Amino acid sequence: MKESIGKVPGLAVILVGQRRDSLTYVRNKIKACEEAGIKSVVAEFPDSCAEEDIMTSLSKFNEDPSVHGILVQLPLPELEYYLEFYKRTLYVLQMTCKSFLVQHLDEEKILNLVSLEKDVDGFHPINMGNLSMRGREPLFVPCTPKGCLELLLRYGVEIVGKKAVVIGRSNIVGLPIALLLQRHHATVTIVHACTKNPERITCEADIVVTAAGVPSLIRSSWLKPGAVVIDVGTCPVEDPSAEYGYRLVGDVCYEEALSIASAVTPVPGGVGPMTIAMLLCNTLDSAKRLYG
Ligand code: GUN
Repeated sequence: MKESIGKVPGLAVILVGQRRDSLTYVRNKIKACEEAGIKSVVAEFPDSCAEEDIMTSLSKFNEDPSVHGILVQLPLPELEYYLEFYKRTLYVLQMTCKSFLVQHLDEEKILNLVSLEKDVDGFHPINMGNLSMRGREPLFVPCTPKGCLELLLRYGVEIVGKKAVVIGRSNIVGLPIALLLQRHHATVTIVHACTKNPERITCEADIVVTAAGVPSLIRSSWLKPGAVVIDVGTCPVEDPSAEYGYRLVGDVCYEEALSIASAVTPVPGGVGPMTIAMLLCNTLDSAKRLYG
């Protein structure tokens, strides 16, 4: 039986647009908050909203004492514009429609506004900067990288002095995972879309963390026998039989990788639930700090 002390942790989520993977992630985060007794609120905005509307909502959450954690679900949407132009072919005038994407929301400006003390995603540049520097401690570590590290630690995987390869260099996954592994004294290499023959690098790694978003990228030939593989890839593929009409697939050929690796995380059910668990931890830590 839980005893109430009248101090309830609160999480505010900003969701812009209708990306179905973002909708699913936010739905799962809110459900987990309900189960854990964390009060949550979602501020939803359409794709075409003005940056000012998001900034106003963020400022309110920054000031609200019942909110201890704020997250802006990423990526922010881009608007699609259409440009019509005419092309002369075989004396017939043809009209062609070309679309292009415009980033109307400044992600950096928006993330900068999140209060440092409520930045439970750890994406504020000061938190990211502190994560990247030796001897400095960020207030919050980004949830997915923290979840990956927690998996390694809980399963007793040795990290010190091991070769770790991170596939992908995004600000929200690849880069902070590489920084965390380095903090835990692994020798870390990041490979990315421009790396030549990445499999020659991954096949020497004791730990592979992949966040490329490319289904079936990691075959058994990419892996060293006994390697530990963490699959952070989440690519939505159509599946009419799935709950929301699509399912998520990872970067790793799971069965193939299992035949050579010592451990492989599945998608779904591997890193995803860890990300959510770490978000709850960060929100609770923040509430404890802010309540004093
Ligand atoms: N988009 C994909 N992963 C994440 C995450 O961990 N946090 C946020 N805010 N957006 C994401």
